[in-house]
Amino acid sequence: MRKKIVAGNWKMNTLVSQGKALAEELNAFMKTYDMPEGKLVIIGTPFTHLSTCVEAVDTKKIHVAAQNCSQFEKGAYTGEVAANMIKDLGVEYTIIGHSERRQYFGDTDEVIATKLAQCYANGLSPILCCGEKLEEREAGKHFEVIESQLRNALKDVSAENFKNTVVAYEPVWAIGTGKTATPDQAEEIHAFIRGLIAKLYDAKIADDTTILYGGSVNAGNAANLFAQPDIDGGLVGGASLKANDFISIIKAI
Ligand code: PGA
Repeated sequence: MRKKIVAGNWKMNTLVSQGKALAEELNAFMKTYDMPEGKLVIIGTPFTHLSTCVEAVDTKKIHVAAQNCSQFEKGAYTGEVAANMIKDLGVEYTIIGHSERRQYFGDTDEVIATKLAQCYANGLSPILCCGEKLEEREAGKHFEVIESQLRNALKDVSAENFKNTVVAYEPVWAIGTGKTATPDQAEEIHAFIRGLIAKLYDAKIADDTTILYGGSVNAGNAANLFAQPDIDGGLVGGASLKANDFISIIKAI
């Protein structure tokens, strides 16, 4: 069954006290909100905020995500955080392969594949990001880029493991720029991704996969994006830091 999801990506923002207050505000809203079956809210917080946020919310109504995990299992990797440490906090998801990690922290397709393996081995559901840069879109290479990112990331992922994966399409040119993909542009890629998943796995798995759109989603454009048949929700950066904006986006799902 395909789930609809609104996921916040707080990135490297808020102090723990501020993140806690935001989580509590969202929790107070979700307590009174009748969220239909099969629709989920996720907040993706910095590592330092995870335990506090897991404790601050009803995790049946607000699921908590990390934004990364180590590609290694454990050991002498100073500064790294292992997937099982994240899972141990009561966290259910982690974002993997965000374009900011690809750009600044050396998350190549190969690294992303090993991080996915760590997620599956430790019962964390990855939110696997893909997306083309502006120059790749202008050169008409967007389908090719998305296909290669997903094929490389998923090359060793079994159907059983893939079923625990959420995919997020985030065109790099739309992230934090205020320049959203139009619903048609996003739908075109989402349909393409679903077709690719059908080729890599099968049509049933493709139909059940949640594919999120990310890149300047806000309270004003969410409903039109989410109305597209292959857009199953959003991965929301900037607008997830303001409770009222995020709540409007939740209502749009
Ligand atoms: P944005 O970020 O909503 O601020 O564009 C989205 C993301 O990077 O996940």
